[in-house]
Amino acid sequence: MNIERKVAIVTGGSSGLGQATAERILAAGGRVAIFDIDRQRGQAFAEAHAGKAIHIDVDVVLEESVRAGIRATLDAFGAIHICVNCAGVGQPRRASVHDTHSAAEFTRILQLHLVGTYNVTRLAGAQMMDNEPLARSGERGVIVNTAALDAQHNGSNQLAYSACTAGVAGMTRPLTLAMSTYGIRVCAIMPGVFDTPFKANLSPDARASLVTASRFPKREGDPAEFAALVGHIIENPYLNGEVIRLDGGAHPPSR
Ligand SMILES: NC(=O)c1ccc[n+]([C@@H]2O[C@H](COP(=O)([O-])OP(=O)(O)OC[C@H]3O[C@@H](n4cnc5c(N)ncnc54)[C@H](O)[C@@H]3O)[C@@H](O)[C@H]2O)c1
Repeated sequence: MNIERKVAIVTGGSSGLGQATAERILAAGGRVAIFDIDRQRGQAFAEAHAGKAIHIDVDVVLEESVRAGIRATLDAFGAIHICVNCAGVGQPRRASVHDTHSAAEFTRILQLHLVGTYNVTRLAGAQMMDNEPLARSGERGVIVNTAALDAQHNGSNQLAYSACTAGVAGMTRPLTLAMSTYGIRVCAIMPGVFDTPFKANLSPDARASLVTASRFPKREGDPAEFAALVGHIIENPYLNGEVIRLDGGAHPPSR
């Protein structure tokens, strides 16, 4: 899908990977609605890109909040073609046999990362179904979800976070089956460690060990590199149903 003049929802767009994605879409001539509970940063971004970007105070966990965000996006830009889910928070506490998450904490993390991603995906996807298919590709929409390397490697002891990012990765194919009928593609990205405020919850040791785990290049990812992959997924009409690792070839150690 050519991004020019297309309308994108970017959840978590006030910061980090979401903000870099919003910048990438704007640079390609698209319009962006940021869905984020961080009003201050979201509004500052929207003001810096007045007429092309808006911030809507959406909590992705709450269905009614997402529905209101979608209505506001349609009011501002008239359609939704792209949805990129980046909303999330770091999980400071690990789980062990002596100190498992409480059910409440486990549920909170799942609500945000897994249910939140699902809420926005299904409601934005339903809206995309109303789009006229694009003349050459037949596409009506593209959805990109964010999982994490923790979904796949056995060394992570971020129990709830691993479970929900595995859920985000795992729902990619079923979503593809459901959405492809309507010309909507769905992919997910599984980032390694990226240089964003998200990692503030990790100890310096944990961050260093994650960087060491990268084969090449041996450094944290740049959010612009994540955004570049989002841009490619949107622009490549043959890419569908994939969960793509973006981690410098990492083999993370146990932590
Ligand atoms: N940074 C990394 O190393 C890394 C690695 C793997 C996966 N991820 C995933 O990428 C996503 C984005 O991470 P980031 O690094 O950009 O983090 P970030 O902290 O820079 O940005 C996350 C944004 O999500 C917003 N947010 C939090 N809860 C929300 C809610 N309920 N509704 C709407 N917005 C909400 C925050 O306000 C913030 O602006 C997260 O889901 C995270 O799990 C990040």
